[in-house]
Amino acid sequence: MIDALAATPHVTRREDYREPDWLVPEITLDFELDPAATRVRATLSVTRNGNHDRPLRLDGDGLTPLSVKADGTDAVYEMDGPALVVALPGDDHIIETEVEIAPERNTQLMGLYASGGNLCTQCEAEGFRRITFFPDRPDVLSKYRVKMTADKARFPVLLANGDPVAQGDAADGKHWAEWHDPFPKPCYLFALVAGDLAANTATFTTLSGRAVKLGIWVRTADLPKTDHALHALKLSMAWDEKVYGREYDLDVFNIVAVDDFNFGAMENKGLNIFNSRYILADPDTATDYDYDAVAAVVAHEYFHNWSGNRVTCRDWFQLSLKEGFTVYRDQGFSADQGSEAVKRIEDVRGLRAAQFPEDSGPLAHPVRPDEYVEISNFYTATIYNKGAEVIRMMATILGPQKFRAATDLYFQRFDGTAATCEDFVACMEEAGGTDLTQFRRWYSQAGTPRVTATLEHEAGDGRAHLKLRQSVPPTPGQPDKAPMVLPLRIKLFGSQTATPVGEEQLVLLSDGDAQLSFEGVTERPVLSINRGFSAPVIVDTNRSAADLAFLSAHDDDPFARYEAMQQLMLDTLVAAVTQGRADHGPVIEAVANTLADPALDKAFVAEAVLLPSDSFIGDQLPVVDPEAIFQKREALRRDLGKALEQQWRAAYDAAKVNRFEYSPAGKGARRLRTVSLGYINASGAPDGADLAFAQFEGADNMTDRQGGLTSLVNSASDKRIAALDIFYNRYADNALVLDKWFQTQALATREDTAEAVEALALHRDFTLANPNRARALVGAFAVNQRAFHSGDGRGYRFVADQLIALDKLNPQTAAKLVPPLGRWKRFDAARAAKMRAELERILATPGLSKDMTEQVSKSLE
Ligand code: PHE
Ligand code: ZN
Repeated sequence: MIDALAATPHVTRREDYREPDWLVPEITLDFELDPAATRVRATLSVTRNGNHDRPLRLDGDGLTPLSVKADGTDAVYEMDGPALVVALPGDDHIIETEVEIAPERNTQLMGLYASGGNLCTQCEAEGFRRITFFPDRPDVLSKYRVKMTADKARFPVLLANGDPVAQGDAADGKHWAEWHDPFPKPCYLFALVAGDLAANTATFTTLSGRAVKLGIWVRTADLPKTDHALHALKLSMAWDEKVYGREYDLDVFNIVAVDDFNFGAMENKGLNIFNSRYILADPDTATDYDYDAVAAVVAHEYFHNWSGNRVTCRDWFQLSLKEGFTVYRDQGFSADQGSEAVKRIEDVRGLRAAQFPEDSGPLAHPVRPDEYVEISNFYTATIYNKGAEVIRMMATILGPQKFRAATDLYFQRFDGTAATCEDFVACMEEAGGTDLTQFRRWYSQAGTPRVTATLEHEAGDGRAHLKLRQSVPPTPGQPDKAPMVLPLRIKLFGSQTATPVGEEQLVLLSDGDAQLSFEGVTERPVLSINRGFSAPVIVDTNRSAADLAFLSAHDDDPFARYEAMQQLMLDTLVAAVTQGRADHGPVIEAVANTLADPALDKAFVAEAVLLPSDSFIGDQLPVVDPEAIFQKREALRRDLGKALEQQWRAAYDAAKVNRFEYSPAGKGARRLRTVSLGYINASGAPDGADLAFAQFEGADNMTDRQGGLTSLVNSASDKRIAALDIFYNRYADNALVLDKWFQTQALATREDTAEAVEALALHRDFTLANPNRARALVGAFAVNQRAFHSGDGRGYRFVADQLIALDKLNPQTAAKLVPPLGRWKRFDAARAAKMRAELERILATPGLSKDMTEQVSKSLE
């Protein structure tokens, strides 16, 4: 009976939400920190919430109570599985518990754990229950006082949320510190850090003139790599004041970098904890991409102070309330630091690479899910990136002024509370003066909507008619869908004069079908639709290759120019794969024109001339043929390389920058340089490998160095072995750069990649215990479409083996790597059978985690 119950995974449902039975207005935590055995004493003031006689139930995970007291005397309690239950007579009590935990044995990296000799915490979503008994749900908000005692030599720095209030020395070489956080917060935002750390510090003066002490804490040797993050933090603080009117609220703001971390970073109140890859940057070790990511993640976590912390989530089904909104905010911040168009292109590329496949596969779920088994599995591209697109659409519909009024209303109305997505949309409606009833389907319906747009021109009477039709595909548990509200920015251009026909229109497509008419259209019009990617949908049009080439040269929306070029490339590659051949001419001409256009900035050109990825091409096909896609894409690359060789060489030379400078212009030049190098190599030019090696060796920055290395690693040249050795020896003691060494090889387009990756898994520097390293090899390999899907199935077997091993250490990180195997329905029968067999083998593993069980069993359905 008990066993049967344990075998059925517990499903948490959104509709079952109930207010907490007990509130905890205040908590005092006393930590005696030690890696092997840490004592945690918790004192909770608890208050009965409403009129009921249910006992106090405190979540726990792997905890054994050493003592439980109620109002100062030993309490009668019972364990209900991992939870502690105490029946209490009155409405207000003081509960004290004591437990012992072992941070150094915590390989899941949830709760209190050790990383690089330091101690740190990660509590979102449900890690606090691994530290102490507590109602671990985001709608229980408490004021925290935290005291930490630890060995002074080993852990000279003791940090927690809020402001430091006292510190002192204790017996036996120990010391202690006490921190108070005046803002009530859910326990997922609790954090502490104890370690041997040094800080890069600064002061930021807020809008109202308060001085905030900023500190970025790392090991002393890494201090020189923290200036970029510190600068980004100051920019973020100023940006949130200017753009959203949000000011910081404590006297200190600390960030700590740790090497072992399951995600990117965590927004704990006043004490953000980061994966070191999103803090450390210097020209020798970080690429431009890394620099951008550092700034974006610093901004993201900082912005959570309002969108997440001051206003938090009522329950985990509302996760996108804080994540979608905060991603939207960090995207706006990054756009303001450089080119808005290039930022939009990067974000849409990311959405198509991660979220579209998720939304069309077995793990598809709405932005606000209805149920989960393990909430950690819902930190997804849908919650984050589609969630951000949903906010963006509301901002587009409302316009900037009303959108700002709506966010002001939201922050003011829900400050200090735990809110819902519905609360957010209601503020948008109220301040926007608009009805979003149907728009709410973006929160409840999964799947990427598809729009078919057909433009017809009646030359005689100067009219054009645009027919629009939308459909939303079925997804698991949602066979039938209702039409959504799709904000589509649309414009027409005259095909002869290349001038706009009228103004851009914002069309809100809300029915299944719609027709739009345009007057005064004398010359044949060309359709520019979903400009700026105003709706996260797939658009099918009847535009010819010539029309797409035309838009790629003449559209006045830079995103639409990029998009037209991508569509032209995609149509060409799809034709090549499905019909065996395609005319490369239009793509070559369009790329030539883009390279020749002096008005375009280099970063944009570099994005525009890049072919769609293997996987994105695969996503367009009924059955993915990885080898054919790879070969046809390479053939187009070769033709582009050969036909435009002079332009690539000219672009390569023009983009030469003598000294590293992290600026939009510097980044654009480096990006175009490496893209050009790729095409020169694709052309088969005899000096391609020499050029790549020279770039690799002569580089004064990691962007150029890794660009050269990538070209070599994808090539047949034996210089690649030399380059890999040089790279390895130069950076052998830098974990983040070694991750690049693993990742570049795992992403290689060579035929022997699967074999090489199996060997790398046995390399002495490979370990599954560090999530960055695991992702660099296993995660990267699993998205290398050609190598992972090699016909013999060895790629599937390798990934399954690694996931089974990783699950024993770190279920959360393992479960994140399941989706590539779960895409079996998209492949031919032979591959699909092999992929399924591996999923079944994983599922049959004794002791498989709840995280993996949920992901793998859903993937098999
Ligand atoms: N809340 C974090 C963020 O998006 C992500 C995170 C989730 C980090 C769970 C760790 C664990 O900023
Ligand atoms: Zn976040």
